[in-house]
Amino acid sequence: MKAAERARALRAEIARHSHAYYVRDAPTIPDAEYDRLFRELQALEAADPDLLTPDSPTQRVGGAPLPVFAQVVHRTPMLSLSNAFDDAEVEAFDKRVSEALDQGEVEYAAELKFDGLAMSLTYENGVLVQAATRGDGETGEDVTANVRTIRVIPLRLALAQPPHRIEVRGEVLLYKADFAELNRRQRDAGDKEFVNPRNAAAGALRQLDARITARRPLKFFAYGIGGYDGAQTGEALPPTVPADTHARLLDWYARIGLPVCDQRVVARGAAGLLAFYRAVGEKRASLPYDIDGVVYKVNRIDQQQTLGFVSRAPRFAVAHKFPAQEELTEVLDIEVQVGRTGAITPVARLKPVFVGGVTVTNATLHNEDEVRRKDVWRGDMVTVRRAGDVIPEVVMVSRPGPRREQDRFVMPSQCPVCGSDVVREEGEAIARCSGGLYCAAQRKQALLHFAQRRALDIEGLGVKLVDQLVDADVIKTPADLYRLGVASLAALERMAEKSALNVVEAIEQSRHTTLARFLFGLGIRQVGEATAKDLARQFGSLDAIMDASEEQLLQVPDVGPVVAASIARFFRQPHNREVVEQLRAAGVTWPEGAPQMNVVSSLAGKTFVLTGTLPQLTREEAREMIEAHGGKVAGSVSKKTDYVVAGAEAGSKLTKAQELGVTILDEQTLKNLLEHA
Ligand code: IVH
Repeated sequence: MKAAERARALRAEIARHSHAYYVRDAPTIPDAEYDRLFRELQALEAADPDLLTPDSPTQRVGGAPLPVFAQVVHRTPMLSLSNAFDDAEVEAFDKRVSEALDQGEVEYAAELKFDGLAMSLTYENGVLVQAATRGDGETGEDVTANVRTIRVIPLRLALAQPPHRIEVRGEVLLYKADFAELNRRQRDAGDKEFVNPRNAAAGALRQLDARITARRPLKFFAYGIGGYDGAQTGEALPPTVPADTHARLLDWYARIGLPVCDQRVVARGAAGLLAFYRAVGEKRASLPYDIDGVVYKVNRIDQQQTLGFVSRAPRFAVAHKFPAQEELTEVLDIEVQVGRTGAITPVARLKPVFVGGVTVTNATLHNEDEVRRKDVWRGDMVTVRRAGDVIPEVVMVSRPGPRREQDRFVMPSQCPVCGSDVVREEGEAIARCSGGLYCAAQRKQALLHFAQRRALDIEGLGVKLVDQLVDADVIKTPADLYRLGVASLAALERMAEKSALNVVEAIEQSRHTTLARFLFGLGIRQVGEATAKDLARQFGSLDAIMDASEEQLLQVPDVGPVVAASIARFFRQPHNREVVEQLRAAGVTWPEGAPQMNVVSSLAGKTFVLTGTLPQLTREEAREMIEAHGGKVAGSVSKKTDYVVAGAEAGSKLTKAQELGVTILDEQTLKNLLEHA
């Protein structure tokens, strides 16, 4: 393609994406991809200035204001920051600054780069009079009515002697949790979901009806100053706006009631900046809002002034970006994966793409309905997102592929691993393989789950080894692990004697475990680590849990009907009980404890009558045991009696019980009953 043609194509494409982004608040491609297109056009124009047209998007930074909002010409333009993408670029920035200032180690204010929308707030005599978006940097939109609904923004500054006019610059954003909640509401109402918090925030700010904005809990962080106009006329004392350093300006903001983020430091030299970058990088995923990098600003205002500006960005500041969390790539195929519980998950096989700091080749599509909703086909170009340690996911289709019928995803009716039927229960989003442990995929997952660190903790039993063991049919259930010898392990391909020995040793060690780990390791659906711990604590012994009724299980904190039903269903299956017995027979043990008494026993309120002499227990002991389980002991038998416990030489009470059809127990049956209550 000739350069002129390519430039024309790029202009059209960028205009399309830019409209989707700025005007419709519904981006079609990841930011990083947009930036790449933009830079490609910039490069073409730089190489051949004849290609530069007045309508080129490179000639207008930002978006055109919507005509419906009043326009605001910024007194001081709202600039952008130049970017640094790696350590070397940060070092180069620091070197430039330190040379220009002729100073050894420069002091910087380091702060977060919020992924929201820039906002300029004008306070006159301490009162918020105008809020304006950035727009193209020169002219923005008057969104005062909307911004007034943002609760964290003070309508009046906490200042006895406010300046005549001050413009506070900062970022409007939406917290991740509020974004999730907003999308949940959109979904429930059948409305379109937002792609990310920033676009949801943008959508909220662009509402012509401020009542809608008010329902979106927007937040704000102040990070700079746009302009400042002396004291209020007639004031005796001029207000003291700290004009010496940026860090002090922000401290002062916080004191007068403006929200300022506390994740900021004063750092020295490039080393100090990079240390801040790393520390924030580790926190990034756990912050309640999205950030896309950090910002370094020369701390001293006089030095900022010395450095000045290059075209549209300050020379005294730079944004150090984190790896993009969204990228564009191609769906090579859509396959399904069978999980531990048989859940069949559609997975997009992707053309490898670097996103969120790692190369991603697969992304989950969650379930059949999600594939339909997002309308993902093989060959489509999609936006892939990987944030923190979250599993990469396909966010949306950015450019549909050619789409022949065979490119459409169809949920298979048979499990691709074991051939069992795939079933999707009514009202469930998840389709499952019905093969259970017959299915090698489920067996492998079950074994890995059993062996994981938080369960039986068998070091060295990883994906590759489990694959080999299951594929060679050496192992069917977790109990088979305990029969493994060094020889059979060492016989496997690529398994050295030494590593075989280590694995066998790890298996050996795992025999001594805890009830909670064991329970968790069984992989009962709905039973995570926390629930397993609760169950172990409440019931004390495995038998008590295995024999517990759903009602009894419901007594455990945080166990609801779904979890209780799942546990009871699991232990009703003879093959599950068999695995448990095999494991116990293989010598897997744990200390069992006494149950905690706040489990309401199935014997609560039941009436017992004791008669005759019991072989081991005295009457008093028997009474105590019954009462400890919430039962009552009565003196005579009636229709209301639930159980009669009869020992040797029982007399008329036994006869009466037989007549009335009351359940009769001997001492051992009583003990069993109490143990499982
Ligand atoms: S200072 C003169 N500080 O990043 C520089 N900007 O490209 C003015 N941003 O749209 C910006 N966090 O909205 C600054 N701590 C921060 C920031 C920040 C986010 C945004 C800002 C602007 C873009 C700059």
